[in-house]
Amino acid sequence: MASRPDLDYNREFIADIKSDMPKKQIMEKWSCSSGFVVARRERHGGPRMVRVSPAQKVESAIAADDAKVEPVEFVDDSHDPEKGSSYTRMAATAWGEDDWREFLRQKGTDPDSVVFNFGVTSNPGGGYWNKLNNVRPKTAGKDGTPAWPVIRQATPILLAVQEIPSRPARDGLSLSLKCADPQIGFRALSDGTYEEFHDWRAMDVFVEVCRLEQPESIVILGDFLDLPSQGKYVQEAGFARTTQMALDAGYIFLSMLRAVCPDAEIVLIEGNHDKRMQNFIEQNALAAFGLRRAGMPDEWPVMSLQSLLRLDELRVQYMDAYPAAAHWDDDTTRNIHGTRANSKGSTMSQYANDLPHINTWAGHTHRTEIVYKTVLGHRGEPIESYAANPGCLAKTDGTVPSVHGALHVDGSSARVVEDWQQGFGALLYDGKGQSWPQVYRIREGRTLYGGKLIAA
Ligand SMILES: [Fe+2]
Ligand SMILES: [Fe+2]
Repeated sequence: MASRPDLDYNREFIADIKSDMPKKQIMEKWSCSSGFVVARRERHGGPRMVRVSPAQKVESAIAADDAKVEPVEFVDDSHDPEKGSSYTRMAATAWGEDDWREFLRQKGTDPDSVVFNFGVTSNPGGGYWNKLNNVRPKTAGKDGTPAWPVIRQATPILLAVQEIPSRPARDGLSLSLKCADPQIGFRALSDGTYEEFHDWRAMDVFVEVCRLEQPESIVILGDFLDLPSQGKYVQEAGFARTTQMALDAGYIFLSMLRAVCPDAEIVLIEGNHDKRMQNFIEQNALAAFGLRRAGMPDEWPVMSLQSLLRLDELRVQYMDAYPAAAHWDDDTTRNIHGTRANSKGSTMSQYANDLPHINTWAGHTHRTEIVYKTVLGHRGEPIESYAANPGCLAKTDGTVPSVHGALHVDGSSARVVEDWQQGFGALLYDGKGQSWPQVYRIREGRTLYGGKLIAA
């Protein structure tokens, strides 16, 4: 065991140092001393060893007991020459793609050299069974299977059932909660990590408001996925093979909404970004357009978002055919993604001026806004309407590809202040033509709703 200054230039070693890999494992893997690992963790910002007093030990034991999570790691590994290796790990949290990639790295496998899928099952006693399946080398199979993972349906997950409150009294009114433009997507960075375009903190706030309110409907106003690989703009190297990750993340968000609101009508309206999947196939692989699985004429085409996001299983209604895609809350209130973007003024005032007899909920500009309009009716009565945009659930700091975006030489996105705001909308309506719209800002994963601060 020794000091190994040569390792300071070894990327894999530095990744291990920054990871949660136990010190003993690093010492064995790299033949170095305990003091060397501690010093390098200090230098490279890895996890620190903390001395725990006996009193703190008792406290954390009580906390662990409260959480009812078995502190034992459950290990179940199998290795099948045909199907590949599978692993099961019990943990306090549900593992995502990043966790499994780190797990593979710790096992000495480059996660980019293999294909795999994963899932999670919540344990009724607390914690999660995390399962990694079919880890196989990324090579073309004998039977002609593809060399690279093709896009497939999102990996199903099981979420722990949370407490579902009963629906609050609303004086006979119905509630529709609105969100827009999560732009779910990823950019791969040179160090093996990913930047997310969507902001889980904002998405979690929206899920929590949905859980508390038990709305009659939830309407997602489009640009649900970003789909940069299918776009017509400049292709960044980091977009390659991120479509699957976006589908899996999108499925998780929809599953969370369905889990907290089992009875709500959930509607997803197609935006220009979501439409990219269909446009891409029409332009590049017309023969594959509308293909269904053999013998399944009633199914959605395999490359449609309805199929890839498993929308039928989640009971999510998809309104396709952007820009015509629309969903109506009542006779006068429509939900669309929107085509307009006025960078120098109010976009919502354009909708209100053009259609003063119709209420409009739209996304697309990523700007939180509400505009009211009153015009003269046939018999001299006032006709009142509004146009509202809840803002976006995407990041607003330059991570999402846009006209203002720019990349550093290492492929990561430069910080840009976009004129975008995060938020969500709430519409109370009586079904007879009266409605009360509101928009709420989300800032740093928090919103002020009904006089209460709700945090992610
Ligand atoms: Fe958008
Ligand atoms: Fe859009």
